[in-house]
Amino acid sequence: MKALVTGVAGFIGSHLAEKLLAEGHQVIGVDNFLDNYPRSFKEGNLAALSGRANFQFIGADLLRLDLKNLLGGISHVFHLAGQPGVRSSWGGEFSRYTDNNIMATQLLLESAKDHRLEKFVYASTSSVYGDTEDLPMREDGGTRPISPYGASKLAAEHLCHLYWRAFAVPTVALRFFTVYGPRQRPDMFFHIFMRALRRGEEVPLYDDGEQTRDFTFCADIVDGVVAAGHYPGHGEVFNLGGGSDVSLLDAIAVIEAIAGRKGRLCRFDRQRGDVRHTRARLDLAREKLGYAPKVGLEEGLTQEWKWLGEIAV
Ligand code: UGA
Repeated sequence: MKALVTGVAGFIGSHLAEKLLAEGHQVIGVDNFLDNYPRSFKEGNLAALSGRANFQFIGADLLRLDLKNLLGGISHVFHLAGQPGVRSSWGGEFSRYTDNNIMATQLLLESAKDHRLEKFVYASTSSVYGDTEDLPMREDGGTRPISPYGASKLAAEHLCHLYWRAFAVPTVALRFFTVYGPRQRPDMFFHIFMRALRRGEEVPLYDDGEQTRDFTFCADIVDGVVAAGHYPGHGEVFNLGGGSDVSLLDAIAVIEAIAGRKGRLCRFDRQRGDVRHTRARLDLAREKLGYAPKVGLEEGLTQEWKWLGEIAV
């Protein structure tokens, strides 16, 4: 496989590139170092990749690159680049979401239609479902995002399907459920909470803490993404969840036990765009991708805690 990984300096993209290289594939990674969090984290993520024989890095923006040229010789695209973050997608920030999530995906798909790709894997999100009592969330269930972020990711997911229908671009979309583990983005809750624990700082707790997430460990997500790369079907959507749903307060208790110290929580109202519960139905991913999440919350959080200690935040 000669793979293009977009967003390769990010949390999940860097893990994916490492896995592909370990499996003997050639990887071209592209990243524009979006300023959604400090560049030093992204440079740290790339450190394990740089200098590897089968790895080439391109530091550039998908909106400005010659994508046809970029796709030359590529067999698999793993499109993980994007503007993440649910709560920050309102107001003036939205143009960043339309540019980096919708436009960048459309440009990549346009270029892909003239290439004989074997697979185009798009990283979507559980945020496309919105707030629903119909749990677990099913791929064929309704999608009504409640954040502009979710709307932008759903629009790009639709584009993947359209380019499959119209031009046979071999797309598969994967809906990731709140991914965590070493290298987690510093704007995500576990990272925020662990950093504050280490520094003895207060942490904002939005809502009552009884909201639940189907937290998914990064290595499990990467296994699902690689499996999607080998999947023979096209035009489909799969959930990739962690296989269990946990409330934020229960997850906090697990972290406190790992760290051996108590956090200082400061309560705030539920934030606009935040869904109350997520839980993935995994039957489709299990059956068609052989997806089986292996890392439980305690083990995964222990790894994230250890990583944060190593980077000394
Ligand atoms: C995460 C990612 O940030 C999205 O990019 C991704 O698409 C999404 O998962 C998804 O799977 O759909 P989220 O579930 O909001 O979004 O993950 P966190 O940012 O880690 O937040 C988890 C919970 O912690 C939320 O209920 C949030 O309100 C809460 N939180 C977050 C706090 O209480 N305090 C904080 O300072 C930050």
